[in-house]
Amino acid sequence: MNSSRYTHGSLDLNTANLPSHVAIIMDGNGRWAKKRLLNRIKGHEKGSETVRTIIRTCRELKIPVLTLYAFSTENWQRPKLEVAALMTLLKKFLESEQKEMIDNNIRLNAIGQIDLLPQNVYQSLKKVMDLTKKNNGLILNLALSYGGRAEIVKMVREIAQKMKDGLINSDSITPELVSEHLYTRGMPDPDLLIRTSGEMRISNFLLWQIAYAEIFITDTLWPDFSKEEFITILKNYQLRDRRFGKVVP
Ligand code: FPP
Repeated sequence: MNSSRYTHGSLDLNTANLPSHVAIIMDGNGRWAKKRLLNRIKGHEKGSETVRTIIRTCRELKIPVLTLYAFSTENWQRPKLEVAALMTLLKKFLESEQKEMIDNNIRLNAIGQIDLLPQNVYQSLKKVMDLTKKNNGLILNLALSYGGRAEIVKMVREIAQKMKDGLINSDSITPELVSEHLYTRGMPDPDLLIRTSGEMRISNFLLWQIAYAEIFITDTLWPDFSKEEFITILKNYQLRDRRFGKVVP
């Protein structure tokens, strides 16, 4: 196989021009379950299998960063049983994927107000983050108890404190400085944002970072989202004319 191509079934992808950072709003677990007259939790369980598939594909394609919106600040308002089931699923996921992440050079990084997570989930998360912190392959950002506005407020507070302490002045506040005070510091901004299940919303996800991201919205519900569809979106991404606001002659 040519080293700059990736073949999957009848799909052939050029790996030379892939996004450096893919961000995904994983939506539609509840609808997937409802369609099958199942409990919503079954949808989340099936959705976590898709999570595994997409992580594996990003690793195989050597995409540097993948950010998954797993739990938003607003999701705390869901019924208690659903929140508890999502937390249990997350803990199980961390335990079952720990070895795969270590063996495959994946660095797990949580973004969001993770101190709000139940203690046992927080501990598992910290453990896997610690075990994988020296890995230099795929960075897997799990957005947990994450909200884009809360992230921006946190950044403003940190910068205001630095000004108060006399470490910087207002002229030092640049886009680069702002980026350095976000959870994604040191990482490229997402080039590609995918949302499943058809809704045309950003839902408070990576508000600063997606300034120039290419957006793909698919009607597919997250549990049905496949490696084939992901590769098809990547091929489509490669056809987009990214001008970053400029005129290209
Ligand atoms: C949105 O579907 C999905 C979520 C709120 C949670 C995402 C969680 C997973 C994919 C599984 C667990 C995650 C990991 C990392 C193991 P929804 O419930 O809003 O669906 P609906 O809009 O159809 O109701």
